[in-house]
Amino acid sequence: MTSAELPTAANPGPFGHQQRKNFLFPENYTQFNHGSFGTFPKVVQDDMRAWHDRVEKNPDLWMRRDLYTALDDIKTQLSEFVNCDMEELALVTNTTVGINTVLRSLRFDPGDRILVLSTGYVSVNQTVRYICDTHTDVKVIEVPITFPISDKDMLTRVEDALKQHKELKDGSKIKLGIVDWISSVPSVVHPVKELVDLLHSYGALVYVDGAHSIGQVPVDLSYLRPDFYITNCHKWLFSVRGSALLYVAKRHQHLIHPTSITGEYSQGFAREFGWAGTQDYSSLMSILSALTFRKQYGEDAIISYTHSLALEGGKAMAKILGTQTLTPDDHHVGNMVNVALPIKDLNHPKANTKALMEILMDKYNVFTPAFRHGDKFYTRVSAQIYLEVQDFVRLGNIWKEVVDELNASA
Ligand SMILES: Cc1ncc(COP(=O)(O)O)c(C=O)c1O
Repeated sequence: MTSAELPTAANPGPFGHQQRKNFLFPENYTQFNHGSFGTFPKVVQDDMRAWHDRVEKNPDLWMRRDLYTALDDIKTQLSEFVNCDMEELALVTNTTVGINTVLRSLRFDPGDRILVLSTGYVSVNQTVRYICDTHTDVKVIEVPITFPISDKDMLTRVEDALKQHKELKDGSKIKLGIVDWISSVPSVVHPVKELVDLLHSYGALVYVDGAHSIGQVPVDLSYLRPDFYITNCHKWLFSVRGSALLYVAKRHQHLIHPTSITGEYSQGFAREFGWAGTQDYSSLMSILSALTFRKQYGEDAIISYTHSLALEGGKAMAKILGTQTLTPDDHHVGNMVNVALPIKDLNHPKANTKALMEILMDKYNVFTPAFRHGDKFYTRVSAQIYLEVQDFVRLGNIWKEVVDELNASA
């Protein structure tokens, strides 16, 4: 398929509403929030159930032998997908576990600093706080970011923080920087390669929180060259919840151990991460059928459609609401678009995530997260292969009704 032939919002090809039959949504429900918890096609669920059946026919055979062959198969396929050595990969249940695994394995000495962006995911930045609270003189350097911001300005902000720290000459060092590839709320695609290179040039290790990356943007780890990288397969790759991919560059593997130590301790990275104790591994197995489902269309086709739909759908909603999308540059949008909500009184008692969620769910049977960023309210809408622009138009009209009612009751 040439790039001119790739599916777009205007020419959906195999995507759009015809995809609904491949998913589990009831007829009266449209899913606009794939970004938070993902969802998976029916064939992936069927396949996961088949793994269950297979395991229960002979649990010992599975737990003692076949599990390891299956995990290797998944890692091999994923290593081709993200372009790295399969030995650099481990499968974990989610990004939170992946972040904790690395942060709680690394040794932090007095004087070590950890650089994060203020827009980093709350659980990640709280894990950093925990590390600081439980170590002597380990501190966080938080770079304040408010979107929209150009790539150049973001890099300047981070470099200013690195320079300021260097000028302190107090014997401390920035040991680790953690950067999002695609932030959560607001959702913004970051200049991740430039951030990795910049942090490396100041001698810091870099952990890329790519929770939203696999399946949403092309991932090439041999090009990116982070020290650590984590991505959820259960978000954009279409596997079942509880499946994530952790990358640890070979040179650091001796330092990193699972959050729960098992009998495989000190047997090497692959063995330590291959056995997480007795548990249901079927969500990890579902990665295989998720990859097969995607292959029938191709990554380029999926990414082209969902990205184009996020752009077009976001514009359609902003037009209905008389506002703008948060990021004017298309390359800051992946599959999730942030649309400004024209709420006049930001201190209105219902201008908060929880109250707005209840109105949307109870009255309209839809949901998109709403949040305040800077001096505006936004909602984050996720494009996916089962949606079309007309869905965004319907959602835009719903949000207009919600906001109009709120403004009238101010
Ligand atoms: C940027 C980012 N990091 C980390 C996470 C945590 O992912 P999980 O809840 O799957 O552990 C999320 C979840 O949405 C996220 O958006």
